[in-house]
Amino acid sequence: MTSAVIELQGISFSYPGAIKALDRFSASFLRGRRTAVLGRNGSGKTTLFSLLNGLQHPQSGQILFDGRRIAYDRQSLLNLRQEVGMVFQDPDSQLFSACIYEDISFGPMNLGLPEKEVRIRVEHALAQMKLAGLENRPTHSLSFGQKKRACIAGVLAMQPKVLVLDEPFAGLDPVMAAEFSAILDELHRSGTTLIIATHDLDLAYSWADEVIVLKEGTLLAEGTAGETLMRADVHAELGASPVVAEIAAAIALTGVEVYANGYLPRSKDDLVKIITANINKENVR
Ligand SMILES: Nc1ncnc2c1ncn2[C@@H]1O[C@H](COP(=O)(O)OP(=O)(O)O)[C@@H](O)[C@H]1O
Ligand SMILES: [Mg+2]
Repeated sequence: MTSAVIELQGISFSYPGAIKALDRFSASFLRGRRTAVLGRNGSGKTTLFSLLNGLQHPQSGQILFDGRRIAYDRQSLLNLRQEVGMVFQDPDSQLFSACIYEDISFGPMNLGLPEKEVRIRVEHALAQMKLAGLENRPTHSLSFGQKKRACIAGVLAMQPKVLVLDEPFAGLDPVMAAEFSAILDELHRSGTTLIIATHDLDLAYSWADEVIVLKEGTLLAEGTAGETLMRADVHAELGASPVVAEIAAAIALTGVEVYANGYLPRSKDDLVKIITANINKENVR
């Protein structure tokens, strides 16, 4: 059984003015898995993320990291933020230095690592995020996508166990999104726990192992992506169902086999492959 790396137990959180963002919310993030947090605008995704690395404190309930309740003194928060890397939606709110080299080196330097180690980490993160050559350009002169990649590089340089990304694909062009997806795959293979927020059901269906669905600050559903994203109450809440699943179901009705090893395809590419292969088989007969 996979253990939870982060566990939220009965969390309630309100902003000043009694704006309730989370209401007795409980859920677990499993170690090494890719989890998509889904929910409509205002359902509490960003608030939930701000609790995961201690930026906000819940007014009630508790959060466990690696089985231990998180504490909010300075040293505990520093330790927590080393383990749980956070990438916000808006890169301008995260970048604060004149150039991205400075920005990316800030975290590792703060850890008190030797200069050489800092340099190695920064250069590795720059290469990973395809930012080599841009490290000394003024931050404000970079494009949105470059800034977003710089934010991610800054977090990767900390080598976190858990990487939390708020709507990471929003605002990326399709080429950048594909490149970014490949980077996430690599991190997943190397054992990093990945958590993303999105309201894109299709993206969640093709990308995630697990999903957590929020509804007005409460937990609507939690479980594997394959099962949870087929639930009628989830479709009703999100106002959609995964397009690939809908097409696969329609094709199955025509008698063409759409299952591969007992599983429905989860991405457009897999669906096309299976349909093409099976339609060709039918034609040969
Ligand atoms: N800084 C804030 N101050 C007051 N209310 C906020 C703030 N941020 C979010 N909220 C409110 O909290 C609720 C949850 O918002 P949020 O966590 O941003 O949801 P999501 O990320 O799913 O869109 C909403 O009602 C939103 O208006
Ligand atoms: Mg949000």
